[in-house]
Amino acid sequence: MASSPVFRFVLFIVFVALMQCCNFVEACLGGGSSPVGNAGHCAAAEGIVFSGVEAAVAEDPRMAASLLRLHFHDCFVNGCDASVLLDDTVDFVGEKTAGPNLNSLRGFEVIDAIKADVELACPDTVSCADILAVAARDAVALSGGPTWEVQMGRKDGLSANKQLANSNIPGPNSNVAGLISKFQNLGLSVKDMVALSGAHTIGHARCASFTSRLNVGSNAGNLVGDKDFLTSLQQLCSNPGASNVTLAQLDLVSPATFDNQYYMNLLSGEGLLASDQALVSEAGEARELVESYSEYPEAFFEDFVAAMVRMGSLSPAAGSGGEIRRDCRRVN
Ligand code: HEM
Ligand SMILES: *[C@@H]1O[C@H](CO)[C@@H](O)[C@H](O)[C@H]1NC(C)=O
Repeated sequence: MASSPVFRFVLFIVFVALMQCCNFVEACLGGGSSPVGNAGHCAAAEGIVFSGVEAAVAEDPRMAASLLRLHFHDCFVNGCDASVLLDDTVDFVGEKTAGPNLNSLRGFEVIDAIKADVELACPDTVSCADILAVAARDAVALSGGPTWEVQMGRKDGLSANKQLANSNIPGPNSNVAGLISKFQNLGLSVKDMVALSGAHTIGHARCASFTSRLNVGSNAGNLVGDKDFLTSLQQLCSNPGASNVTLAQLDLVSPATFDNQYYMNLLSGEGLLASDQALVSEAGEARELVESYSEYPEAFFEDFVAAMVRMGSLSPAAGSGGEIRRDCRRVN
């Protein structure tokens, strides 16, 4: 019996479970010092982030998309340093009122709650920037997408840069050359750009982000490839006063599932944003990648993961300084 494979397997599981408990207890009883030697390590952290994301998404399915986008808007402005989370104060201007963020970014309260739990387990150990990176990964996995290992150890920035948020984050009316250059400015490739755009397989956009494509004019049909799709969007966004609150699904077919449907939509002229549809507007590398991802979901997942890891390792300019913020909304 003792040598049966089943018994050995059970022993192994018990062993693994015990190890997990020890790690957790150690993390929780660790007090002010970090439970394990290397800086920024907290054995319980990833589990806490996962539980927090899971609960938030159960309550509001859109939150998966919102958390993924938060990490993107963080990393594109002076690296992944949680600058996007800093609140404005009387003498401090953050990034929350920058064009791409205002009336649009969400999920701050979810990150606050996760951070509070992580601080209880491991005070002063895990940065808000790391929490954003792990939350984005878990949001993708919980939506049916791939998962990957997140490199930890990011520091939280001491400042924010609203101007850089306005200039670095691509806008929804960008053409393909504009998209490529915003990614290349940060050292990301055309492939990274097309794969990361696949994030628009989940989540929503406000009419404000795409109504300029809908204007009934001589070339309206050219701006939205599919006629029925155009008509439905014109109806949805018919009240211009509500353009900051009326929402459309970025992927009209499977709006809450992380899959390669986004690329199929582009090929049928049903991309929501002008910047989405721009990926297939002309022959070239971007269009070829869209065609390939629409056919091979595994290739999309693989390239998406590689691109998320690259985006997640964008670091602040040398000499920016950094810390482990206690409250993600303000510097210590
Ligand atoms: C390629 C250039 C990109 C452009 C021009 C762009 C633009 C936008 C815009 C305009 C919205 C709608 C915002 C609103 O109306 O409130 C949006 C939503 C979203 N974006 Fe992007 N984006 C880009 C790349 C990315 C990347 C790289 C990611 C993540 C890896 C991402 C993730 C998302 C998600 C998940 C949403 C939905 C958020 C929600 O429902 O709360 N986007 N994007
Ligand atoms: C939408 O929000 C922007 C600020 O982001 C504001 O300037 C604009 O007036 C708002 N539009 C409507 C219709 O409320």
